[in-house]
Amino acid sequence: MPKHNAFGDVVDNVKDVAGKVVSGVLEAVSPADTAPHNGVAAKAAIEPVDATALLEKDHQEVKALFAEADALSDTAYGARLKIFKKIDAALTLHTQVEEQIFYPAVKAKTKRNTEERDEVLEAYEEHAGAKDLIAKLERLDPRDETYKAKLQVLGEMIRHHVQEEETVLFPQARAALGHTELEALGRQIQIAKQKAAGKSPAPKTGGAKAPAKRTAAKRTSAKTAPAKSTAARGRRSTSSARTRTTAKKRAS
Ligand SMILES: [Fe+2]
Repeated sequence: MPKHNAFGDVVDNVKDVAGKVVSGVLEAVSPADTAPHNGVAAKAAIEPVDATALLEKDHQEVKALFAEADALSDTAYGARLKIFKKIDAALTLHTQVEEQIFYPAVKAKTKRNTEERDEVLEAYEEHAGAKDLIAKLERLDPRDETYKAKLQVLGEMIRHHVQEEETVLFPQARAALGHTELEALGRQIQIAKQKAAGKSPAPKTGGAKAPAKRTAAKRTSAKTAPAKSTAARGRRSTSSARTRTTAKKRAS
């Protein structure tokens, strides 16, 4: 794999460690995107920020959303759904960048059967638990009696997870990775988020437009609009059934 610069080496290292398992957001961040001195990075206003600081900012934002949800009256169904959608979108993107950019880099610095490795593995499992609950909430009517309880439990899970990360995992990561690599990861996270927000950087030179990729933004929007996806699937299956019926009639 060609080495572009010192930062390119870091990106390559992270990708090597995570291997083919890494997909989605990280795939959307190419070494060219992360080159610190090209025009693209300057236009996209990528700041040299430590990855843990960026992730902590996400934590604050999502905790504020849960606090808003907690303050709602029992029958504020519409407002609760609205806040859940914001939480869903924020957590989906946050867990993606952690799982595909941050955790693999931290895990690469740990050894099996150590406290540090256990912390990273625990973080993945906590994400999995949160995702299960998020999926249940996505399918549930906000008027369902259990909706509010599920959202509250999700909030408790996230608060616990955030505290573990900020008091144990992040300090371990800072010690293991060091400032330069944390900033490199911070750069990847910012680019991944910009891409997810539909702010894909323009090509470096004024050449032909690059072919469209299946970006993290598409996956995020698919996850945050389950009803639409289900409806679309329904329409597709109805249409397929209709086609099959027509073909059968023709055959007979
Ligand atoms: Fe986190």
